[in-house]
Amino acid sequence: MTAFAPLPFDIDLKNKVAVVTGGAGVLGAAMCRALAQCGAKVVIIGRDLAKAERLAESINNTGGFAQGMSCDVLDRGALENAAAHIASTLGPCDILINGAGGNHPKGITGQEYFDAETAGKDASQSSFFDLDMEGFKFVFDLNLMGTLLPSQVFAKQMLGRSGCSIINISSMSAYRPLTKVAAYSGAKAAVSNFTQWLAVHLGQSGIRVNAIAPGFFITEQNQKLMLQEDGSFTPRAQKVIAQTPMRRFGDASELIGALLWLVEAKASGFVTGAIIPVDGGFSAYAGV
Ligand SMILES: NC(=O)c1ccc[n+]([C@@H]2O[C@H](COP(=O)([O-])OP(=O)(O)OC[C@H]3O[C@@H](n4cnc5c(N)ncnc54)[C@H](O)[C@@H]3O)[C@@H](O)[C@H]2O)c1
Repeated sequence: MTAFAPLPFDIDLKNKVAVVTGGAGVLGAAMCRALAQCGAKVVIIGRDLAKAERLAESINNTGGFAQGMSCDVLDRGALENAAAHIASTLGPCDILINGAGGNHPKGITGQEYFDAETAGKDASQSSFFDLDMEGFKFVFDLNLMGTLLPSQVFAKQMLGRSGCSIINISSMSAYRPLTKVAAYSGAKAAVSNFTQWLAVHLGQSGIRVNAIAPGFFITEQNQKLMLQEDGSFTPRAQKVIAQTPMRRFGDASELIGALLWLVEAKASGFVTGAIIPVDGGFSAYAGV
């Protein structure tokens, strides 16, 4: 049997059911492993069943309990079916991590700064005026509605029970928009705002709602923006590092301390509506 990676600290999640959307992604997988290592029954939700099942198998082979499920976070019917199946086989959901999220090439401009001379000449020079509403809609739907819908479906199972919480995944682009990624920045700002709104709305229900705002981690979804074909940093990645006081990218394992703290009511029972940056100082740095 292989071993889990060491945790920053232990919490006891025995008999808890944790649902992680986008759980087979790079950041989600680290979270699934950590939750399972603390004893939770983890359901990995993704569109690619084989990928979710591969991760579940590796967690199960390491002594945890995980199960992969195919479900689109934008499909309410599929979410409701998944929630009913989970409740009847494992029990009601105690922890929901809304990890599914991402970007779309049509929601990104090629130009950082509008240059009338070259704007729109080719994809690398696309500007605000070339942005495609289809791309914008895709990114808003995935990040915002893909957080709202699973919350609506799974929080119903949390009502009237103690120790339940929702954790959304925001981004540095929610604080101040990053150049080029107009749709993603707006959508993640909406995720942060929604986190606060829902925390207030559910404030007396016993369900805590918080978010983690990761800084920069190299994953599948930003690899092309951050790494050249030879593995060296793109100019954009170099800018990110220059704006990150710790002068490096994060490792997915570095999100786990914040995750476990937010999940454990004994540690963070009075914390709701918080958005915790895990960013090597990026959000604190003025650049001077
Ligand atoms: N990588 C970073 O530096 C970074 C920084 C800040 C925030 N984030 C956010 O963290 C979260 C995880 O990102 P990641 O970097 O691990 O990306 P990832 O692409 O590795 O993981 C995202 C997962 O979501 C799944 N997914 C996408 N659309 C879905 C849908 N409609 N239904 C169900 N599942 C769907 C994907 O299949 C994938 O497994 C995302 O919300 C992302 O926006 C990432």
